[in-house]
Amino acid sequence: MDKYIIKGGGRLEGVIPVQTAKNSVLPILAATVLTDEEVRVLNVPDITDVRNMVRILTCLGCRAVWEGRDIIIDSSSAEKCEIPRALAHELRSSVFLLGSVVSRFRKAKIAYPGGCDIGLRPVDLHLNGLKRLGVQITESNGYINCACQKLVGNEIMLDCPSVGATENIMLAAVKAEGETVIKNAAREPEIEDLQKFLNSLGARVKGAGTGTIVIEGVKTLSGGVYQPISDRIEAGTFLIAAAMCGGDIELTGTNAENLSSLLHKLRENGCKLRIKNDKIYLRSDRRPVSVKSVETQPYPGFPTDLQAQMTALCCVCAGNSIVTENLFETRFKYVPELRRMGADITVIDRSAFVRGVERLRGAVTVAHDLRGGAALVIAALAAEGDSEVLDICHIDRGYAGFEYKLSSLGAKIKRVSI
Ligand code: EPZ
Repeated sequence: MDKYIIKGGGRLEGVIPVQTAKNSVLPILAATVLTDEEVRVLNVPDITDVRNMVRILTCLGCRAVWEGRDIIIDSSSAEKCEIPRALAHELRSSVFLLGSVVSRFRKAKIAYPGGCDIGLRPVDLHLNGLKRLGVQITESNGYINCACQKLVGNEIMLDCPSVGATENIMLAAVKAEGETVIKNAAREPEIEDLQKFLNSLGARVKGAGTGTIVIEGVKTLSGGVYQPISDRIEAGTFLIAAAMCGGDIELTGTNAENLSSLLHKLRENGCKLRIKNDKIYLRSDRRPVSVKSVETQPYPGFPTDLQAQMTALCCVCAGNSIVTENLFETRFKYVPELRRMGADITVIDRSAFVRGVERLRGAVTVAHDLRGGAALVIAALAAEGDSEVLDICHIDRGYAGFEYKLSSLGAKIKRVSI
């Protein structure tokens, strides 16, 4: 297990490139099972979730070859339709494979997926959507078994705009017979990116980004080369870090449109922001002013994946804030760790009541999940004195070269193996 050793108190200054989006790459890799031709995905971030997704594809019989930061997937030799329990537990996105594997093999078997421990994370919407397309599903001994004669398009209404369920149903529907309509679909930019990717292989998908997605089934998909969008959550994490530490940073390879809810809050905090093409500039020269309330919502609302980082920022603002987590049941596991650093936070039900303090103080904290772990790092960078963040394997799931990028902004952070 590795840990970070951090000396807090310095400003963050400099330019960093934003990685390709983890939450785009994962469903796109799952989608490669749908074609027999080679697919090259460009500039894939070197993170644990991607490595595990590639391991799952290899277990299915796909051939995966890295060329620099590009990955080439050839699924022509794919022959298995069971995803090993150990790998399914590592990765929430393993569940996306249900749609593409059942489309290819007419059957699929997967253990209940794992992923960050941020809530119950049921998959009922995934399974109900697949059933509407003609898949018979049984669940036994912690496994989900899918089988069908053929996939037939249908209308599917999602009880909530689930990102994963929307993507899973899209993957199952692209080669189904006839038309599929997904209503109350998630609108995240990563869904639009998946649509763009699938259409680049010859699929007929439209409406992603709106609440209704229409998919016209096709017989086959081709191969191709694709550059997924940039990671808005990584970008937001660095912007919040600079707002919290004070600084003057430039992010390149971004799309500010996908971050508008965060940018609006950071302006409320008193940060100076400038957008130019694919660059976002943030300058923060004084103690941030508190935002009264942050409510996480499905896109285009404030992203739940930036909730922990934003709460950390609220801890050092002038004034009080209320942060409410509306998507996941237990996404405040990082709060006791921040309190160890002197934060004044009380969690009641789904809301964190934060009283801003002048400075946090360094402490030894433990990461419990990906985004909570990132929040502890940026809190340590802003704190007075030395900190350690343990169990940073959670952070490695979604941030490539996190300590290198932060160091390039002047942060005093180093990784130590223990
Ligand atoms: C995706 O998870 C992301 N993961 C998450 O990012 C992100 O937090 C989440 O979307 C919300 O934006 C990937 O894309 C790999 P959901 P997902 O289905 O698909 C309920 C990160 O840090 N729900 O949109 O699992 C669910 O309980 C990760 O990068 C059901 O009730 O999220 C939750 O309350 C963490 N039944 C809500 O929907 C279902 O069948 C939103 O979940 C599915 C979901």
